[in-house]
Amino acid sequence: MFELMDEWGPEKVVCVSDSRTGMRGVLVIDNTARGMGKGGTRMSPSLSVAEVARLARVMTWKWAGVDLFFGGAKAGIRFDPSSPDKEAALRAFVRLLSNEIPSEYVVGLDMGLTERDAAIVQDELRSRGAAVGTPAELGGVPYDQLGVTGFGVAEATDAVFPLSGRRVVIQGLGAVGRAAARRFAELGAVVVAVSSALGAVHDPAGLDVDRLLAVPDDSAVPAYSGGTQLALGAELLVPTDVLAPCALQDVIDASLASRLSCSFVVEGANMPTSLEAQQVLAARGIPVLPDFIANAGGVVAAAYAMDARLSPFRPDPAAIYATISTKLRANAQTVISAASSAGTTPHQAARSLAESRVRTAMQLRGRLPL
Ligand SMILES: NC(=O)c1ccc[n+]([C@@H]2O[C@H](COP(=O)([O-])OP(=O)(O)OC[C@H]3O[C@@H](n4cnc5c(N)ncnc54)[C@H](O)[C@@H]3O)[C@@H](O)[C@H]2O)c1
Repeated sequence: MFELMDEWGPEKVVCVSDSRTGMRGVLVIDNTARGMGKGGTRMSPSLSVAEVARLARVMTWKWAGVDLFFGGAKAGIRFDPSSPDKEAALRAFVRLLSNEIPSEYVVGLDMGLTERDAAIVQDELRSRGAAVGTPAELGGVPYDQLGVTGFGVAEATDAVFPLSGRRVVIQGLGAVGRAAARRFAELGAVVVAVSSALGAVHDPAGLDVDRLLAVPDDSAVPAYSGGTQLALGAELLVPTDVLAPCALQDVIDASLASRLSCSFVVEGANMPTSLEAQQVLAARGIPVLPDFIANAGGVVAAAYAMDARLSPFRPDPAAIYATISTKLRANAQTVISAASSAGTTPHQAARSLAESRVRTAMQLRGRLPL
C-alpha cells in the first residue's frame, strides 16, 4: 500500500473483511485538501486495492477540474454483485466502516451497486446521510433518468465549438449517449450517426433523434428505419464536425486518430482516447475535450445529491441542469484556452489546472510549504 502513496495521497486506506459472507472491502480517501473525499462505491468479484486507489485519484482531479469543493475518495467491495448474499455483504461493509461513514465518506453508486443498495446503506447505518444515489422516492437525485452526464457533454462542447448546424456522431446509446443525443439536437446540431453494441446507423442528412430515442434500449439502432446500417466501429470514421465517443474506454488509438474525419472530439466516456491518439489529434489541429471536463455533469449532480441527503426538500432538476451548464461551459472554455496559450493538449492543460488547484489548497492548509 505504501507504494501507492505519493505527494497527493492517499491520506487514508481502510480495509475491512467479513468472515460470514467472505466480503473484503476497502475505502481509499485520496486527498481532502479541497474538501471531504467523495467518490462512488464499486462492487466486483475481482476488485483490487490498487484499482480503488487509482479511481480515488481520478476523483481528486475530477472534483478539482470541475471546481467543486470535494476531495477524492473511492470505496470497493470484493464480492459478486449477483450473489444472493449481496445485501448481507453490503450491510457488513458499511457496518465495519461506521467510524468513517458518513463523517469522512458517503457511499455512492458505481459498478455493481444500484439505487436500492444505496437505500440499504442508509437503512443499515440508520442515516440518510450515509449514501447518495438513492431512489427518487427517498429524495435521491435520479442521475441517469435526468441524463445529467450526456446533457453536460453537449453543453461543454457548445461552449467551445458552437453546435448550431454542426454534424455530430455519437458512439454508444446508453445513459450518456442518449442524453447527449437529445441535448446535441436541442442545441441545433444534426446527429448524423449513432451506434450501440448492436450496430451503427448513418444518415448524412441527419437521424431523427426523437424517433431513435423512442426505443428505450440498444435495439434502437438496428430497428431504425432510414439511413444506412454500418459495421460496428465504422461510425467513428464517418465525416462529421463533432465526434462523441460515449460508450467504452480505449476506442481511439493513434492509428484510428490519424484517420478520423472530424474537427472536434468530446470524450463522453471515460478514457476513450489514448495518450498517443491525443497527440496525433493535436498535431492534426483537432481538439479533444477531456473526459473529466466534459462528462462532469454526473459529479455536479452528485454534489447536489450530497446536499439532498441532508434536506427534506426534493432536489430541483432545473437547478441541477443550470449549474451543469454554467460550470461545464466555463471549465471547457478555461481548458481549451489554457491549452492554446500553453501549446499543450487540452488533457495536459486540464490536468495541470486540477493539480494547481489541489496544490494551492494543500499549501493554504499548510500541508505543503507555501
Ligand atoms: N452514466 C454516467 O453518468 C457516466 C458519468 C461519467 C462517465 N461515464 C462513462 O461513460 C461511458 C458510458 O456510460 P453509460 O452510463 O452511458 O453506460 P451504459 O451501459 O448505459 O451505455 C453504454 C452504451 O455503449 C454501447 N456500446 C457498448 N459497446 C459498444 C461498441 N463496441 N460500439 C458502440 N457502442 C457500444 C452500449 O450498447 C450502450 O448503448 C462509460 O465509459 C462510463 O464510465 C458515465
